[in-house]
Amino acid sequence: MKIPRTIEWVDGKVRILNQLKLPYKLEYIETSSYKRVIRAIKKMEIRGAPAIGVATAYGLALAVTKIRIKNLEKALKKLNSIAKEFMESRPTAYNLFWAVNKILDAAKTAKNVDDLKDIVVKKALEIARLDEECNRKIGEYGEKLIKDGGRVLTICNAGSLATSYYGTATAPMYRAWEKGKRFEVIVMETRPYLQGARLTAFELKQAGIPVKVITDNMIGIVMRKIKIDLVVTGADRVTKDGYVINKIGTFPLSLVAREFSVPFYVAAPFSTIDFNSTIDDVKIEERDPKEMLYIFGKRIVPEGVGGIYFAFDITPPDLVTGLITEKGIYKLPIKI
Ligand code: MRU
Repeated sequence: MKIPRTIEWVDGKVRILNQLKLPYKLEYIETSSYKRVIRAIKKMEIRGAPAIGVATAYGLALAVTKIRIKNLEKALKKLNSIAKEFMESRPTAYNLFWAVNKILDAAKTAKNVDDLKDIVVKKALEIARLDEECNRKIGEYGEKLIKDGGRVLTICNAGSLATSYYGTATAPMYRAWEKGKRFEVIVMETRPYLQGARLTAFELKQAGIPVKVITDNMIGIVMRKIKIDLVVTGADRVTKDGYVINKIGTFPLSLVAREFSVPFYVAAPFSTIDFNSTIDDVKIEERDPKEMLYIFGKRIVPEGVGGIYFAFDITPPDLVTGLITEKGIYKLPIKI
């Protein structure tokens, strides 16, 4: 695949593809500062639940390598306080919190500060590697749902760019394509950040998969007039009671899919499943309405008029045909 890598650990630094610049140019942020990684997450230069998880793991690895404290207990305290800063960067995507827990659990096994540095960097690299491995397994399970000659619809970017590589919702598409199936993908543009139009369309085009973009509000007529065989979306968090939190627009999409009897699947690794929370415990990110009141820096709404901007919505389990994971396809809520 010719899709550029979202995030990499290169010679003790983190290299992030700046997604705000796509599809116009490939521009990278290279940093050894964990604060710069937090800024990239907040500003959405890197976004997508698994990618945010990997960025957090690498950010903590950067932070730990800079620790000059010799006392292990104090160094662990410092690492915990930096982890808190990451946890305050974006509230909804579960992978961020999952990655923090994985790193802090591994850190507890350190025998001294040098050991701690080694353990945290290794764990961060493992988190990134396993993310891609999970996506490839999601691809294996999910490709069976894609019909040769069919049409798949998705929203936002749950693609390679939102992960270490290969994507979650796109993994079944990439695997089916590799196996020789031919199909078309329709992508909802996904206002206001246009992750569908800018990012998913970009990466599917790079992969050579035919793709068309629609505006979000066209979904009803598109499903009525054009045969859609399958919807696959990603998830930012799946709660233990089976609710799917994903990019704003996913819930209305699931309702339209139900109306037209189109199977609605969600693809996500287990690192996105929050087995500790029910839907009432989760904070749905609300971002600055300016991000939607302006388009490319130009205000589109009269001065003095405000906006409401939830970044994610909630799809109940009964609207989800199945959750495609690295361990197989599950009905929601998952009972384990
Ligand atoms: O606000 P974003 O761009 O971080 O939101 C991303 C999404 O909602 C994706 O669909 C989700 O993270 C799944 S990514 C594999």
